Amino acid sequence: MNPTYDFTGQVAFVTGASSGMGLATARAFAEAGAAVALADIDENTVTATVKDLTDAGHRALALVCDVSDEDQVAAAVDRTVEAFGRLDMAYNNAGIMPPPTDAADESAEQFDRVQNINLRGIWASMKHELRHMRDQGSGAIVNCSSLGGLVGNPGRAAYHATKHGVIGLTKSAALEYGSRGVRINAVCPGTIATPMVDAMAAKGELDRDQAAAGQAIGRLGTAEEIAQAVLWLCSPGASYVTGVALPVDGGYTAQ
Ligand SMILES: NC(=O)c1ccc[n+]([C@@H]2O[C@H](COP(=O)([O-])OP(=O)(O)OC[C@H]3O[C@@H](n4cnc5c(N)ncnc54)[C@H](O)[C@@H]3O)[C@@H](O)[C@H]2O)c1
Repeated sequence: MNPTYDFTGQVAFVTGASSGMGLATARAFAEAGAAVALADIDENTVTATVKDLTDAGHRALALVCDVSDEDQVAAAVDRTVEAFGRLDMAYNNAGIMPPPTDAADESAEQFDRVQNINLRGIWASMKHELRHMRDQGSGAIVNCSSLGGLVGNPGRAAYHATKHGVIGLTKSAALEYGSRGVRINAVCPGTIATPMVDAMAAKGELDRDQAAAGQAIGRLGTAEEIAQAVLWLCSPGASYVTGVALPVDGGYTAQ
């Protein structure tokens, strides 16, 4: 990877920032010169990640935050602006993958849990980021959807409902804010080699070789490849791009 972005003087906020794609994106923002707030429910990991970034000379802030709790999200976004003075870019990424379930057997508790983190969490993050970006009259938000926001998959109805919902939130808010200086897009990762996919493989829920064969490019994606798409969507290079759900999936949804 050869990032060519210069985000010096800008501030980024990333949720689910201590693992996988959130971590890769937070690191890429920092390496491109941004001050970065890393929000995650996992206190130990987010604290250690921020120490690594600050030890490497970057400006970074650890925020312990459960995105399903709106008050915690509001506080994390406000703390970012207090610490760094503004908010230019956000990657709303935190999410979970529940176990596969026959639609006739899915419990209401499992349905509510995945909605609360994957959909309500993105709603809350975007809402509180927009409070600041609306006042600034500028900003770029990227919401994490999935190939699951574009197609269905047996056993995954609740998860795919959240990811389709993220695209609806993204498009509507993009229309609302297009003339107010804030661009809002979604990224739709394919199957990406992260701890989430490692856990699915370990539980026998995903076969890596089969997943790789299902991509036109013939391999799983990397977290860094998603980070590059997010940085581009936040950059001036994407100044005329808003309301898009961008597949970064090795060609999976082209089939
Ligand atoms: N890995 C894939 O193949 C893939 C594909 C498409 C979309 N996605 C989506 O990408 C996002 C990131 O996935 P990943 O593969 O990097 O996962 P990951 O499990 O490696 O990382 C997820 C991060 O989110 C954090 N998190 C979980 N619940 C949280 C909560 N309530 N509040 C705050 N933080 C929380 C975790 O602590 C972790 O740091 C998720 O939204 C996921 O649904 C993943």
